[in-house]
Amino acid sequence: MSPFLLTRTLPEDATDAALRADVRAGLTGSPKTLPPKWFYDAHGSELFEEITALPEYYPTRAEREILLARAGEIAAASGARTLVELGSGSSEKTRYLIDALTGLHTYIPVDVSESALTLAGQALVAERPGLDVHALIADFTARLTLPDTPGPRLVAFLGGTIGNLLPAERAAFLASVRALLAPGDALLLGTDLVKDETVLVRAYDDAAGVTAAFNKNVLTVINRELEADFDPAAFDHVALWDTEREWIEMRLRSRTAQSVKIPGLDLAVDFAAGEELRTEVSAKFRQEGVRGELSAAGLDLARWWTDGEGRFALSLSIAR
Ligand code: AVJ
Repeated sequence: MSPFLLTRTLPEDATDAALRADVRAGLTGSPKTLPPKWFYDAHGSELFEEITALPEYYPTRAEREILLARAGEIAAASGARTLVELGSGSSEKTRYLIDALTGLHTYIPVDVSESALTLAGQALVAERPGLDVHALIADFTARLTLPDTPGPRLVAFLGGTIGNLLPAERAAFLASVRALLAPGDALLLGTDLVKDETVLVRAYDDAAGVTAAFNKNVLTVINRELEADFDPAAFDHVALWDTEREWIEMRLRSRTAQSVKIPGLDLAVDFAAGEELRTEVSAKFRQEGVRGELSAAGLDLARWWTDGEGRFALSLSIAR
């Protein structure tokens, strides 16, 4: 068997159909919204990489610190022979884990980006001969079918990306993760934590304006893919903390009254002056909330690690 396999579970045109449906629903609804997954074309992915290096954006560094310190404990607690990583991207932080999992048989990175999967997968196979890498081109929010590989299984969902899902979507997502696991298998989940509002808002509204460019990039994606005529300069980047729901919201605020044409959807979208379009929710968590959401999905919180400053948490939970 070949040590590197790539399986496409998404039809080539699935992305296009999903983008069209999301843009139509989101821009004809009230208030206007767009799902954050459309930030990540090649340019948006580069901007996100830049964000992770910003002084204000702590989550990536905090999570790396935890993984580096705890990879051995995570490996020992899970004893995983199969590691599934949802939204693997460059698999960069996962290396600590893969290196620590000495009994690992198969690594299954799951991502919508074929190029990221191929790049990361090939490199890994070269570094770790004997390890099977079976990459899946798939949307992690969709129902997944995993190849039949030896247990125990460890599913990793890092970066705090679970915070981009709304509460009902989170419940559905965690239930779908639980369905991938047998009793005793584990989930390693990265969650950003509730903290001082100014620290949070700065992380999503940096001084260099990289996050603003990242936010506006979704308009460029729609311009390119659906021949729309959004003028990114006609919108302001907004980041705000919702105290009640404990999440950061990113929005784009229309500077003037304007009408945007989207020929690819045969649609015109009117914005009032000052009208806001919600582009991302990034929820922040507390241990008791995470424990409760995991438990509702049939997962028992077993370990909880934070970085030295208590900004970010990795949890290990076990399927009942
Ligand atoms: C990649 C989803 C973890 O929500 O913090 C960064 C995306 N948005 N800056 C996050 C993001 C604005 C990021 N995640």
